[in-house]
Parts: sequence; C-alpha cells; structure tokens
Amino acid sequence: MSKKNDKNPPSVIGPPSSSFVPYGKQSIDQSDIDAVIDVLQSDFLTCGPAVEQFERALADYCAACHAVAVSNGTAALHVAMLAAGIGPGDRVLTSANTFLASANCAEFVGATADFADIDPETLCVSLETLKAAWKDDVKAVVAVDFAGYPCVTKEMADWIHEQGAIVIEDACHAIGGSLDDQKVGGFPWVDMTIFSFHPVKTMTTGEGGAIMTNDQALADCCRLFRNHGMVRKTEDGARKADPVAELSSVLGHPPSAPWLYAMTELGFNYRITDIQCALGMSQLKKLDRFVTRRQEVVDQYNDAFGHLSSVLCPPSVVPPGTPAWHLYVLQIDFDAIGKTRTGMMAELRERGVGTQVHYIPVHLQPYYREKHGYAPGKCPAAEACYQRCLSLPLYPAMTDDDVRCVVDAVMKTADV
Ligand SMILES: Cc1ncc(COP(=O)(O)O)c(C=O)c1O
Repeated sequence: MSKKNDKNPPSVIGPPSSSFVPYGKQSIDQSDIDAVIDVLQSDFLTCGPAVEQFERALADYCAACHAVAVSNGTAALHVAMLAAGIGPGDRVLTSANTFLASANCAEFVGATADFADIDPETLCVSLETLKAAWKDDVKAVVAVDFAGYPCVTKEMADWIHEQGAIVIEDACHAIGGSLDDQKVGGFPWVDMTIFSFHPVKTMTTGEGGAIMTNDQALADCCRLFRNHGMVRKTEDGARKADPVAELSSVLGHPPSAPWLYAMTELGFNYRITDIQCALGMSQLKKLDRFVTRRQEVVDQYNDAFGHLSSVLCPPSVVPPGTPAWHLYVLQIDFDAIGKTRTGMMAELRERGVGTQVHYIPVHLQPYYREKHGYAPGKCPAAEACYQRCLSLPLYPAMTDDDVRCVVDAVMKTADV
C-alpha cells in the first residue's frame, strides 16, 4: 500500500479540496526547488557530496558530533538498533503512544518490543512510567518526543544508563526543539537521536531520516549498516580489525587494490540520495522559521480552546526548554459533546478541516497482542489518551485565516 502523508485509511481522509486545510503539509519554496535542480544537474544523484554536506549541516545545527543520514526514520531506528548491538534476548522499551516504527525496530533485530505508559500531561514516557515497566532484560529505551515535547531529561537518561541500557531518543517529531540550551539531536546524555524527514514532519527531504550521535563508534556502525555492511578502508569503522586487508590476502591481492571492499556485517541499502539531501539542506536553513510559525499557530489554538478545557482540552503542559511542536492534539470529551470521533472528523472535513488520530496504542496492534500477549489495560494512560485525542492542522504555511477557520469549524462542530 502506498504511504500517505496522513497514514490513515482513505475512508476517513480523502483528497482535499482546494480550500481544504489538511492536518499537516510540507512547506516548499523556490529555494528548495532550485537546490534540488542544482543536484539534478550535477554529477551525483546519490553517493555524492550533498550527503556529507547535509550530515555536516545537521550535526552543526544540533551541535552534535555526527549525523548519519538514511532513507527514512524507520531505517534510522533499525540502524540504531543494529549499531547498539540489540538482538534476540533483549527487550526494548518504548512509548505506547507512538508510530509503529518506534517499536518495530526492536522486532526487526529479533529483540522484544515492550511498552511503557505515558505521563497523561506530556503524553510521553517519564522516568516513573519507565521504572514501572522495567524488566531486567531491557537493553534499550526508545523514548518518543511525542508532538515535539523533548522528553529525555538527563535524569531519565542517567537512570537508564545505570540499568545498563542505551538511550535512543525518537525525535521524529521534535527536530528544532531544545532543552537545557541544547538542541534536540545534540543532547550529550542521549546515545542516539532519530529524525524523520517525512513531508508532515517539521522539515522534509520527501522521505528521509538521520541518526544523530556524539559517539564515533556508533556513527561508524550506523554508516556500515546503512550501506550493506561494506567497508572500503579499515578507517571506515568496521567492527572487525582490518577486514579489507584480511579479504585481500584471501583473494591474493595487495590490500591497496582500489576496487576492494569487504562485507563485515549484514547491512542494508538505507542510503539517502543527494537529491533528498539538497532539499534537506535548503529546508534546514528555514527550520527555525518553521518552528516559530508552528508555535504561533499553537498559541492561537491555546487562546481559542483554553477556556473550554472541560470538553476540548488543549495541551496543558509547559515543556522545559523550547519545544518544536509537530502536532496539536486536543483531548476531547466526545460523550460531553454528544458526538463520535468519526462523526466529528467527517463534519470537520465537510467544513474544510483535516484531522488525524495520534496514536493507536501500539501494544494493542494485532501483531503485538498475538506475539507477546499484550492486552488492553497494559498502558492505561495511552489507551485513555487514544479515546480522546484529535490532531488539528499544524504546519508553517497556515495563515491566521486558516487558524481562525479551524477554530471556527471545531467550535461549530463541537457546538460549544
Ligand atoms: C514517532 C515516529 N517515529 C518514527 C517514525 C518513522 O519515520 P519514517 O516515516 O520517516 O520512516 C515516525 C513517522 O511517522 C514517527 O512519527
């Protein structure tokens, strides 16, 4: 099935009309188009200089030592699991309130995905919910910055490390945010941070993702797994000593033979193209502007819905640091307004407003119920949040009129 921006069945979200305000949308301008055209007219469409340039620009933006750009956020999570050496017998704890990929990456490598509940205020895992879900075999935590809230504090990371596990921050929603004056992606207390550049995210490369890390060995491993586990030179960061020299002796060549490569791990083709990276570099220049405009829209929504918080609850949490809001999630008391969520979404759609549901608690998906016996009640806060949540449109190109149109449509539909 083709991947839709809204990742929702077409029965709920169909093709938008021209006056339609979708729930999310990329912002592409002429400078993005020019950047892509430049690469299209260059010698390299992939494996060229734009990839490293984008990685350097991302690392500089986040003040991280390394960025490894890959084909999408799911690939970034998979590569991070491989680089961390997670595998069969290991448990990976993630949030119940996330997109499938945050959990699936554990299963890709033969580990067990398990779920911690969310804090009902932040809608993210907290130290308390992680402690409550902890088991001795947890070897990694994939902590999800839901909606853009930067949830991985130093205190949380220190505790996870004390248990002998690695900290992976799924910041697919959170690029551009910061905590304690550190940009998301550069936190020294996090082992690896994951970004997605899908078009609904705060900046886009079409499809794309990245692993950010301050650890040279992890960055080297990510590069290895991104490209078939192939090493061309020993310095490429192979885990095994001198694999090219070793292979060259098996083949009877001098190790300096220019075509030589050695495969030391079972890797993948998770490469990103130069075309995508050119778009990424151009978008990165506008990221702070995108974040600011998203915040302005959020402020307008909060003003509009704040006084109705018995039935339409706007996000009440004040994040530490500066968030980069990716989603605006209302918690709605559907019984109080006498509507079903499906009915409300359909009515809003008729009024020209697209909405979405973030997220179906992942532990309730058939795969996870059948494979690991997870059942309703495992993560009550995430399950309660799911019953009430509705994401409103949020993207930088929204005009103040668009925001007013959404507010008006929500008020009329909810009849408040
Ligand atoms: C929290 C989270 N993690 C991971 C992903 C996967 O990213 P991608 O779609 O780029 O594979 C997404 C994308 O929707 C996401 O929202």
